[in-house]
Amino acid sequence: MNVVKSFRSGHSCHPAPRATASATRANSTALHCTFPVKRILFIYGTRPEAIKLCPVVRWLRDSGSGLQALVCVTAQHRAMLDQVLECFDVQPDFDLDLMTPGQTPSQTTARALTALEPILAGENIGMAVVQGDTTSTLAGAMAAFYRHIPVAHVEAGLRTGNLMQPFPEEMNRVVTARLATLHFAPTESARLNLLAEHTPDHCIFVTGNTGIDAVLHVAGALEEGRIPSHRWDNLDGSRKLIVVTAHRRESFGGGIGRICEALAELAGRDDVQIVYPVHRNPNVLHPVEEGLGGRSNVALIEPLDYPSFVDLMRRAYLLLTDSGGIQEEAPSLGKPVLVMRECTERPEAVEAGTVKLVGTDVGKIVGETVRLLESPEEYERMSRIHNPYGDGRASQRITETIAQFMRELEFRLL
Ligand code: UD1
Ligand code: UDP
Repeated sequence: MNVVKSFRSGHSCHPAPRATASATRANSTALHCTFPVKRILFIYGTRPEAIKLCPVVRWLRDSGSGLQALVCVTAQHRAMLDQVLECFDVQPDFDLDLMTPGQTPSQTTARALTALEPILAGENIGMAVVQGDTTSTLAGAMAAFYRHIPVAHVEAGLRTGNLMQPFPEEMNRVVTARLATLHFAPTESARLNLLAEHTPDHCIFVTGNTGIDAVLHVAGALEEGRIPSHRWDNLDGSRKLIVVTAHRRESFGGGIGRICEALAELAGRDDVQIVYPVHRNPNVLHPVEEGLGGRSNVALIEPLDYPSFVDLMRRAYLLLTDSGGIQEEAPSLGKPVLVMRECTERPEAVEAGTVKLVGTDVGKIVGETVRLLESPEEYERMSRIHNPYGDGRASQRITETIAQFMRELEFRLL
């Protein structure tokens, strides 16, 4: 499903930034020589990075800033990444095609660094843009740093303060921040985290999260029928829909097993239906199929393309997840979320009371889910629509800031 046409038109209330006087001068300079600073390389590799960077790539391409947006996918994910690229109609300029079954972060890092080096060395790249906290994020930032190429970090400043949770993402974020020049913090509290680590204030920009640009756009397009809704032949309208995702490395082994145990207990109720698009990681896929396969009111399905998943979230009664992105998206859709993790780097919705941490304890997961199923007051309290993570304009702010930075850099080089 391709959402680009409507993605562009959906932004009509926020027109793309016009070329400014200095950007126009940059264009005419380019007639005489190719300034390296004009090429911006977006480096990403997994599903969530693609969902959160494709809107920025599209804004930069449409902005008239005179900058050229190039995309390098590591393809740390393959199928789950390609679903998103297709949906946003982004064709990568470089595809490193790195994914191997059951890869480890060390293997992925090593292969990504090796494959990124010639691209960063040979393509006149003026800035590298990375997003979030994956292996591709860190490798992209590191490879650019080694080439003295400035790094912009989108979704900067998220912290749990515990390097082991989430693992290895917390470390990826902290190290990426040390390597970055521009820090695009989604929220004020992310900005404060960066300041506490002595990141210079003038390098931090609070923009909102680009994932909210994506979800608000897609949810709006679904609402207005600009994107057709997925065909949900097997959804039973008489049961409350619980949407589940879980994939964190710190839950491999025991945690995933306990999550399955809790879901099996909840599936014993005849007023619920569980739909679980299962992550393709074999450390998740196998135990989930073993623990939950064959139950009549548990649908274990393949990962959904992004618009279909947003559509599923809209239809959900509640969400049970350990995903970072879903913790951000669900409050914008007014859906309660129980987060199956011990701590979160996204405290805003927890503080607002629409997201609750339940860890991977069977009793806690079941108890809090049952509370939401049986207490209309509790459900009402947690299903408020609010947007603590952004207003849908983060991509525009990021694009404008990058363009400004590159103009200043160019003046310094002239
Ligand atoms: C990665 C990120 C995590 C992010 C998650 C999003 C790291 C260390 N982890 O975790 O931060 O939240 O992506 O989903 O960067 N696989 C496929 N097809 C796919 C994708 C994955 O088969 O399209 C399987 C492969 O066997 C692959 C394995 O999943 O080796 C693990 O993928 P990997 O990217 O290393 O880790 P994730 O657990 O997906
Ligand atoms: N998502 C999707 N299809 C699915 C499940 C999730 O498109 O079947 C989207 C979801 O809306 C969110 C992102 O994927 O935007 C979250 O990705 P994931 O949970 O893999 O990574 P995390 O956010 O934890 O890093």
